[in-house]
Amino acid sequence: MHLNEEFTEGFKFMPGYFGRQEQKELVETLRYLVKEAPLFTPVMPRTGKPFSVRMTNLGDLGWVSDRNGYRYQPQHPTSGENWPAIPKVLIELWEQVGGCPASPEACLVNYYAPTAKMGMHQDKDEETFDAPVVSVSLGDTALFRIGGVERSDATQSLKLNSGDVVVLAGESRLCYHGIDRVLGGSSSLLKDGGRLNLTLRRVSPF
Ligand code: SIN
Ligand code: FE2
Repeated sequence: MHLNEEFTEGFKFMPGYFGRQEQKELVETLRYLVKEAPLFTPVMPRTGKPFSVRMTNLGDLGWVSDRNGYRYQPQHPTSGENWPAIPKVLIELWEQVGGCPASPEACLVNYYAPTAKMGMHQDKDEETFDAPVVSVSLGDTALFRIGGVERSDATQSLKLNSGDVVVLAGESRLCYHGIDRVLGGSSSLLKDGGRLNLTLRRVSPF
């Protein structure tokens, strides 16, 4: 579906931003980094219900969720180690598409098995919303849904394929969004299937 530009000011969709070879290189880099900072299964605040996605982070800060709440922290929750640095190719992406003078501090890495999804939410745990959220999709295609700044606003959906980049800036920065489902087997990029999503974020005011 074609996303209505006026509907979400500041929303950018860049299909095929990364070509196949760049995607492969990025996956190789991520495989190495995920050995240092293994994927973990976050749980919902209070209820402790596990997320269907597994996650890890790169950068000075990483987003975590546990029974105590959502927050950014410098260390991996199980190893206690600092998160690995954000690879150069992702810093360059941020510089090229983010339109933000300050550097990203966090890169959330979400792994979706073909059965995983992510409910509609706003990215609002950051201390500033002046920086964008820049997202990269790798592997299986996902059905992404985006609405407005109120949960009750109308939504639109679009398919995110491997190599696609999305930017949530301006008004779209605080729009509700989520992943309805992953189309298992739609990509051969990841040898065990599924989807990786990387979101680059700035946490601190600048
Ligand atoms: C997210 O909202 O953190 C992830 C979005 C996506 O997987 O494309
Ligand atoms: Fe999000």
